[in-house]
Amino acid sequence: MKKDTFYVTTPIYYVNSKPHLGTVYSTVAADIIARFKRMQGKDVFFLTGSDEHGEKVALTAKKHNKEPKEWVDEIVATYKLLWDRLNISYNKFIRTTDKEHEKTVAKILEILKEKNLIYEGSYTGLYCLECERFYTKKELVDNKCPFHQKDLVNLKEKCYFLKLSAFQKPLIKLIEEGEFRIEPEKRKNEILGFLTTERLEDVAISREKVKWGVQIPWDREQTVYVWVDALINYLSGLGWKGDPKKTSKYWPPDCQIIGKDILRFHTLLWGAIILSLEIPLPKLIFVHGFLTLEGQKMSKSLGNVIEPDKLIDIFGSDATRYLLFSFFSFGEDCDISLSKFYDEYNAKLANGYGNLISRTLTLALGKGEIKLKKVDKKFEKKVSACWRDYDASMEGLKFNQALEVFQALIAFCNEYIDKKKPWELLKKDKEGFEEVIYNLTEAIRHLNWMILPFMPEKANQIFELLGLGKTEYEKSQELAKEWAEVKVYKISEKIERIFPRL
Ligand code: MSP
Repeated sequence: MKKDTFYVTTPIYYVNSKPHLGTVYSTVAADIIARFKRMQGKDVFFLTGSDEHGEKVALTAKKHNKEPKEWVDEIVATYKLLWDRLNISYNKFIRTTDKEHEKTVAKILEILKEKNLIYEGSYTGLYCLECERFYTKKELVDNKCPFHQKDLVNLKEKCYFLKLSAFQKPLIKLIEEGEFRIEPEKRKNEILGFLTTERLEDVAISREKVKWGVQIPWDREQTVYVWVDALINYLSGLGWKGDPKKTSKYWPPDCQIIGKDILRFHTLLWGAIILSLEIPLPKLIFVHGFLTLEGQKMSKSLGNVIEPDKLIDIFGSDATRYLLFSFFSFGEDCDISLSKFYDEYNAKLANGYGNLISRTLTLALGKGEIKLKKVDKKFEKKVSACWRDYDASMEGLKFNQALEVFQALIAFCNEYIDKKKPWELLKKDKEGFEEVIYNLTEAIRHLNWMILPFMPEKANQIFELLGLGKTEYEKSQELAKEWAEVKVYKISEKIERIFPRL
């Protein structure tokens, strides 16, 4: 049977510097979605990658005495290592220096030119001769170049413009009517506020002075503006060659995850490119908030950056993924701190899930087969209600709410243990003991499915402990979510602490 497809993307990351917690946030979120959709049996394509062209990258490479390509190769390797450490299950890592991508960019520009959406003009701006780049007034420090503290010159250069202004009305209509869906609602309102009060100007889509980029196919003196180059990755990443009649089976994206700082690019410029190509718009642009650290913006100059590797060293990869999404609503800014992470880890993972697993499985260990005798209606009802809430939260990308459902089911199990006191039953009522342990083990199987998109490695380890291997993964979701679907458990492995207290 043909599976439904699901296409999810992250922004492609600048390679001026190594990955940081902000880039981890977008990527882990997309991975959680991809894994959740795979769990539902969908044919998922998850794209991430690197944004490698432009003068900033060329300058950074120069500072390090490297050729741009040599530099980007080095940084891309650090991204890939980190994504492996975090178990990011991308289907493709696209690089804007990939030849196939560059060809698609050139092809798309030709299409836009043929449609008369591109014209020649000139760009005037403040230019630093040493940086070899234009600056906006806002970027200057005391009216001088922020890097060289030198005066800038007024420079005019030839370039090509995209008629972005032509898309103002169609974009307003499509966004208002929800055909171009932007969430959360406040981000949709933000962009509509902008579009209905300001004039959308045409945008310069090429640069003469920037050499590190994709050449404009009909004018080799010019290179493509990095944002146009970068946005096209969502098309070229699917192997699209530029024929609007032959888009990939995954097109359009079901969900594009971006941070709030790049909303305009992903609605105005991206929207205009897609409308020009006359292909379907993405089904959803989801805009997440920013992570701050103890109330401050994370930045190298403030010295308050937490390196992703450090978090993984402390909490492990899975718990890091969990902690990034358990506190706050995904669409909001969230203020993190190491001490909050320690508290949450100990409360929810070490004392919560970890403790439930070790209490249950320690009692079950060496007791032979623990069989289903009769279906416990209370558990059945609770678990199916939890699945309903969990699925609704996950579909709405309300990850923290999905994790609350997971925690509520753990609390339900813990109360059940305290009430039933299985360690006492063991001495006097073997049947009663087995019934309690069966219910708890079966509940852990459900909990484990819920946590799988967040903590794939631990979930795998726990399925193994439950004596469930490949067959569990091969089940359809409908079956996996049924209470008492597994009828016999046999716990034969000694339990190590899954989440040691920190
Ligand atoms: N290269 C562009 C994207 C091009 S997509 C066609 C870019 N790259 S970036 O590396 O600067 O940022 C990538 C993502 O990280 C963005 O979604 C951005 O919002 C996100 N974050 C950067 N700092 C962040 C935080 N402190 N917190 C959360 N996410 C933040 O933009």
